Amino acid sequence: MKHLLSIADLTSEELIEIIKTAEKLKEERYKGITTDYLKNKSLAMIFELPSTRTRVSFEVAMTELGGHALYLNWNDLQLGRGEPIKDTARVMSRYVHAVMMRVRDHAVLEEYARYSTVPVINGLSNLEHPCQVLADLLTIYEYKGDLKEITLAWIGDGNNVCNSLILASALTGMSMIISTPENYEPNREIVKKAQELGAKVKFVRDPKDAVRDADVIYTDVWTSMGQESEREKRLKDFARYQVSEELVKLSTEDVVVMHCLPAHRGEEITDEVVEGKHSIIFDQAENRLHAQKAILLRLIGED
Ligand code: CP
Ligand code: NVA
Repeated sequence: MKHLLSIADLTSEELIEIIKTAEKLKEERYKGITTDYLKNKSLAMIFELPSTRTRVSFEVAMTELGGHALYLNWNDLQLGRGEPIKDTARVMSRYVHAVMMRVRDHAVLEEYARYSTVPVINGLSNLEHPCQVLADLLTIYEYKGDLKEITLAWIGDGNNVCNSLILASALTGMSMIISTPENYEPNREIVKKAQELGAKVKFVRDPKDAVRDADVIYTDVWTSMGQESEREKRLKDFARYQVSEELVKLSTEDVVVMHCLPAHRGEEITDEVVEGKHSIIFDQAENRLHAQKAILLRLIGED
């Protein structure tokens, strides 16, 4: 029994295996091949925050693999009325085969996982977004091949997605150049851990310096869920960090642009870039489905 709270809960080998499985399942789906690897298995999906991609792709993934997913809003559960996390975790473990959770505070996820006897999957916390990053790696692999040869430029907020990418870079050998405003750097302990694991991570203040030799430009919202009260300040602090046509033009000719979505056009990215020829954003979004299936098979599929 294994949880997926952090991308670093996987070994390099497991991570590559998930990408390969996702690639295979994607191919099969295009050919119309159906499987029921998760027949009679149930996934509980507990959301403390909204979601489009994570919710729908996990639910469809379970359906297409012959299983069942339950969408559970935190506030509709007794959790919302104060039932302890440790009680909820133990009760759920008696009913379902895995739990996917989206929470404000990563510590809640860790507490839940301590009491759960079935795998717990991080569907986004303030600290990490491992399922997103597995789909991202599948996408980069499809477009660019060998991840070891790739340089990814992260522009904007050093947030949950950035943290998971940094740890993933340690597992895959991918290089990262990170450009954030002062005081918006990624989590210090995660950077330290990744560097100890051999991650090639560089920091530059000017986004122009980050994109020059990049194979991938990646950005995400300036105000993540739960940070809404900081929005006005963030708009000012991030003003120089927009992924615009001008910025993309400074990069390599075949650079690809990624965004985990939802995007705020006119803030962290322009409409022209989202809709432009370098954007692989909607293929990236599709890959959430294929990657999610591979994660589920890894955690609750039969050997
Ligand atoms: N990228 C992502 O996790 O999107 P949702 O918030 O819609 O799930
Ligand atoms: N960093 C964003 C990602 C949304 C999928 C957030 O946490 O809101």
